Amino acid sequence: MENTRDLYKKPYINIPFPISRKEIEEAMESFFCFLELPEEKKYHINMNISPLHRRGDVGFVHKDSKAGIYDSKDYFHYHPIIDDTYLDFINNNHEIKEFILNAHPIWDAIYQVTKDVLLSLDEGNTNILDKIFDSDTPHIVLRFLKYYYQNPGEYLAKPHFDAGSFTVAVAESGPGLRIGTNPDDLEPVTHEENNAIFFISSNINRILKDERLVPAWHDVVQLNESKSTESFSRWAIVAFIDGHSVGSLSREETHKFNNINTSEVTFMGCQEGDSSFCMGGVDQCVLNDV
Ligand SMILES: [Fe+2]
Repeated sequence: MENTRDLYKKPYINIPFPISRKEIEEAMESFFCFLELPEEKKYHINMNISPLHRRGDVGFVHKDSKAGIYDSKDYFHYHPIIDDTYLDFINNNHEIKEFILNAHPIWDAIYQVTKDVLLSLDEGNTNILDKIFDSDTPHIVLRFLKYYYQNPGEYLAKPHFDAGSFTVAVAESGPGLRIGTNPDDLEPVTHEENNAIFFISSNINRILKDERLVPAWHDVVQLNESKSTESFSRWAIVAFIDGHSVGSLSREETHKFNNINTSEVTFMGCQEGDSSFCMGGVDQCVLNDV
């Protein structure tokens, strides 16, 4: 594992992740099968593990950029509480059962790697662990995500801080994620095989007060690989982690840098001749809901 103390110098580290790429792709295939189901089945699982928190929802969500403030995407939030809560429904729908069976071990892996990172970071002080794990329903929400196609250079996910205390980017279909601490230092992130990206998010102060830990400002940009004729441009699996029984910051706080004119910002990592990648007009920097 990259030294966890590197989190004092930058907002993310690469960590080993014990689920193979093959298993992750099988999980995503079962998520795409889930997306083909009738609406009443997709929306049937619907509950909340953390009513105080705007990222405590479990189940399926569709968001449409035509609504004005959102990125166009479908996602499902998995938490193992649904295995028992919806046992009969899951057993009676084999596509959903397949998806849940694939999701559960990824959630278990997130649980373990998060414990490992935090134990290492906090040198065995279990106080931080209790804030997350001393609960029947720890706030670890696993998101399976499909982005719809955008034109090259446009945002798939507009810049923001995540609303939890930590985020684990488990896997994605291709590059496009950029991480920094503010709009001026965003850099493309390389996701290594058999690794996940562990990063600090906006609610960190609810878990661990340490001014050296700075949340990751990040976005996802449409690169040129996918075609507008494809049903999706990108998929990703991400986990949001926070303390139990805590609230989250407001959306204004988690998107606060979007109030500046980013058309004047030069994005780091742009290639010469790749002007579309570098254009991030202020009109694209509206609020989203990640
Ligand atoms: Fe995010």
